[in-house]
Amino acid sequence: MFSLHIVLVAQVFGVEVRPHQETLLHTNFEAYQQKYAKAYEKGSVEYNKRLALFSKAAVEAERWNSRPGRLWTAGTGPLADRTEEELESLRGWFGGSRKAGLGQPPAKHLRSSLAQLSADSLDDSPEEFLNWTSLHALADVRDQGSCGSCWAVTAATVLDAHAEIYKSAQRSFSTQELVSCVPNVKKCGGSGKCSGATVELAFQYAVEHPVQTASEVPYEGTDGTCAGASLLQRLAGDTDLDVAAVGFHAASSDSPGMKYMIGWERLQENAQGPLLRAIVERGPVAVSVDASKWSAYESGIFDSCDKDAVINHAVTLIGYGVDKSLKAGYFLIQNSWGSSWGEDGKIRLLRRDEDEKWCGTDRQPQEGTGCEGGPKEVKVCGMCGIFYDNAVPHFRHST
Ligand SMILES: *[C@@H]1O[C@H](CO)[C@@H](O)[C@H](O)[C@H]1NC(C)=O
Repeated sequence: MFSLHIVLVAQVFGVEVRPHQETLLHTNFEAYQQKYAKAYEKGSVEYNKRLALFSKAAVEAERWNSRPGRLWTAGTGPLADRTEEELESLRGWFGGSRKAGLGQPPAKHLRSSLAQLSADSLDDSPEEFLNWTSLHALADVRDQGSCGSCWAVTAATVLDAHAEIYKSAQRSFSTQELVSCVPNVKKCGGSGKCSGATVELAFQYAVEHPVQTASEVPYEGTDGTCAGASLLQRLAGDTDLDVAAVGFHAASSDSPGMKYMIGWERLQENAQGPLLRAIVERGPVAVSVDASKWSAYESGIFDSCDKDAVINHAVTLIGYGVDKSLKAGYFLIQNSWGSSWGEDGKIRLLRRDEDEKWCGTDRQPQEGTGCEGGPKEVKVCGMCGIFYDNAVPHFRHST
């Protein structure tokens, strides 16, 4: 890490900065650009803007790192020169709808014991699960670029991983097709495409459509246009479909996805047991979190979200474990901000057995989660609200 703090603190407090310190800042910024393959033209408006952001991020990182007994380390990573607006689109508003009084799906749809798990089944799960990091589908950490597509990247990552685990489909699922084609009539988690939607909508789409592979429709990080417009309209017309409902969503017998999946499931809200069981018994899980403070994360176990989280990002939960030197449990999460962010593109998030009772209120579901006309606030539990809104596909085993 760059030893910038003296220079920068001096700047922040308006102390005169000596010429050689100024030079040091520029030198460090040059090294930063080289490390992350950025090239701003020296003296340009852009250069000065990025330099100022970088220098502010460095001061913030020093402040994070001065906390006694801290579990995680901040740094000037690949996002240190991003503006708040740019970081917002990297999170991509995300979430699910909450409709009061909505019932569980009929019991006949619950084909897996997982769907019937109660919240107090924590004890059944192993203390430390050897994560899914060895899956080929997770080898390359994705980079969503400047498109608010975390929901689609996460859905595709999870689908790819499950296809590999269950071997019923030796294939990938095109993130770009999900971005371009998944309808979002109720404006859940945003207004669709690069402006946000939900993993639930993407899973439902994957069940109902013959999704193309990533090589057939490569990721561009733009809204794009949907090739299968007629199918899009068919689904968009079905406004009664409540894809955010907790429980199992069965595929209809004639749906294209039936070849490899029987449906997908939204896990019980704010319960840890079903989430752990889903990772162990099924595979990687799509989770929703508050990632507002994640841009500074470099390594360790992140524990700096408040109870009152604002859910605004979708990521892939790929395991959990205990860090013996930090003496703390964690969830292992694969993000979509490239491999140079965090721990090789991943973040470890604090996990405690009692976190089901560590709850707060998300008072901005209209901005981050929920559909148009949804509730004004929702209860969220766990670090960064990780227990709130999670979904997993149910693939068939190959026979
Ligand atoms: C993932 O599991 C492997 C063993 O399979 C272990 O060596 C590694 O430390 C785990 N990674 C994390 C971050 O938990």
